[in-house]
Amino acid sequence: MSDNKTILDIQRMKAQGDKITVLTAYDYPFARLMDLAGIDMILVGDSVGSVVAGYDNTLPVTMDEMIYHTRAVVRGSASALIIADMPFLSYQVDLVEARRNAGRLVKEGGAQAVKLEGGENVAATIRAIVDMDIPVVGHIGLTPQSIHRMGGYRVQGKEDEQARQLLADARAVQQAGAFALVLEGIPAPLAQRITAELHIPTIGIGAGVHCDGQVLVIHDILGLCEKYSPKFVKRYADVSETISRGIADYIREVKDGVFPGEEHSFK
Ligand code: KIV
Repeated sequence: MSDNKTILDIQRMKAQGDKITVLTAYDYPFARLMDLAGIDMILVGDSVGSVVAGYDNTLPVTMDEMIYHTRAVVRGSASALIIADMPFLSYQVDLVEARRNAGRLVKEGGAQAVKLEGGENVAATIRAIVDMDIPVVGHIGLTPQSIHRMGGYRVQGKEDEQARQLLADARAVQQAGAFALVLEGIPAPLAQRITAELHIPTIGIGAGVHCDGQVLVIHDILGLCEKYSPKFVKRYADVSETISRGIADYIREVKDGVFPGEEHSFK
């Protein structure tokens, strides 16, 4: 019997005013470290496409890749709730495919919940997955799978009409049965309003301090991904420098015949 947090724990945290912490992970060692540090939820994000696979965006990520990464994260985590992202084209075509793919992330990946992007336009999909007893996290605002519609990664909801739509999207996601909602790249006052109105927790990323919790990409907060650094990212460590130094030392010692030494050799 696993001791991982459940959606009831997460919903209780909103009711009690406890902030919810979320980070992305894509493999066993990172999942293990953040789990030991006490993270509440781990998101196996399709950001794996950008920060691990080196793609320009998240669109190429496949179901099989998401399942592979989810399994590794699940093995590394004993107490966090594990959410797996539904990648582009795994839920947009029809409800049957959406249900089958959500089911695969739970059955083959071991995830406890799935996340998908969109508001009113995916409400029926969220309902169909929730009806299979799979907990769903919604995701509105700057939704990376919509990069071509948005014309780039831009803050959403700055104009009144867009803000009204986002409010309607948030209500629709809650009404469809999602247990939490990611608010990405929207003005802080709008996120505050949505958070106050919804009874499900909001998890912000670039959405200000008034959300019920925060999520960031692990590679961004550790300085592991230098491709781009959005304003909303805070760098808590710079491990690139440490890694580069270690690799450079290894190369130098091998070239100089210093490694392996006596202590690393068999007699
Ligand atoms: O894929 C991801 O990492 C995400 C978070 C940024 C919310 O969706």
